[in-house]
Amino acid sequence: MPLDAYRINTEPYYEPQDTEIDIFTAAYSERLPVMLKGPTGCGKTRFVEHMAWRLGKPLITVAAHEDMTAADLAGRYLLEPSGTVWHDGPLTQAARHGGICYLDEIVEARQDTTVVIHPLTDARRILPLEKHNEIVPAHADFQLTISYNPGYQSAVKDLKESTKQRFIAIDFGYPPPSTESTIIARESGADSDLATLLVRIAERSRNLQGHGLDEGASTRMLIHTGRMVRAGLPLAAAVRAGIVLPITDNPDIRAALTDAIAACVP
Ligand SMILES: Nc1ncnc2c1ncn2[C@@H]1O[C@H](COP(=O)(O)OP(=O)(O)OP(=O)(O)O)[C@@H](O)[C@H]1O
Ligand SMILES: [Mg+2]
Repeated sequence: MPLDAYRINTEPYYEPQDTEIDIFTAAYSERLPVMLKGPTGCGKTRFVEHMAWRLGKPLITVAAHEDMTAADLAGRYLLEPSGTVWHDGPLTQAARHGGICYLDEIVEARQDTTVVIHPLTDARRILPLEKHNEIVPAHADFQLTISYNPGYQSAVKDLKESTKQRFIAIDFGYPPPSTESTIIARESGADSDLATLLVRIAERSRNLQGHGLDEGASTRMLIHTGRMVRAGLPLAAAVRAGIVLPITDNPDIRAALTDAIAACVP
């Protein structure tokens, strides 16, 4: 099987926040494209890995970036000793052989790149490869999922209306406190007291969102901080290195955050 290397054989741990599993399952059963929206480190990538495992489909992940071209997604001819040989790009591989293609941080790509997904994400379900003179009909198992962080949106970096309106959307946020502390304990090995404290610390940082911070501490940051404590660092040093310093360079906001955190540490 061509995409065997992309199959996920062991269950990626995922703690549901809401009804996202049902929504994705329904969308996949209709082969509708899905957009995962939410701040950094809140579980979007883990969720799509979990869903690919649950549905038993290969997962091909592509990190979008500014310099990405349509050829990086669709494919190109490469010069080899035997001559020029066509190589399918990741999007074409998923469309041709059947799998979930996950385009991470889609808004990073230029709009002229993003439009290559259009014929695959409407009723046509085809991928025209102009350079290869081929039209690839999407495999029955093909589905496209994209992620983006609405916080980073700007007028220049947003999806075209015609791209947005092709997708089913799922909003991700930070999980409810008890779920988040379960995740932190499980992923970092922190005990439940430490995990609960880290969630309280995160709440303080999230209160500063829009008041100096673009985003509060992510679940990922809390896991890293928990791991630093597990590795032997005192809590205050781990919180400073794991949360306060990475999240902002502004001395005043660092001080405000440090004070807010100190107030919730017993
Ligand atoms: N609901 C969840 N269940 C299990 N683990 C989770 C969950 N949410 C977050 N995590 C943990 O948080 C980490 C960060 O999540 P993930 O990498 O999925 O974030 P993301 O939303 O894709 O972030 P980014 O936008 O920066 O790519 C994961 O590696 C995982 O350990
Ligand atoms: Mg991610």
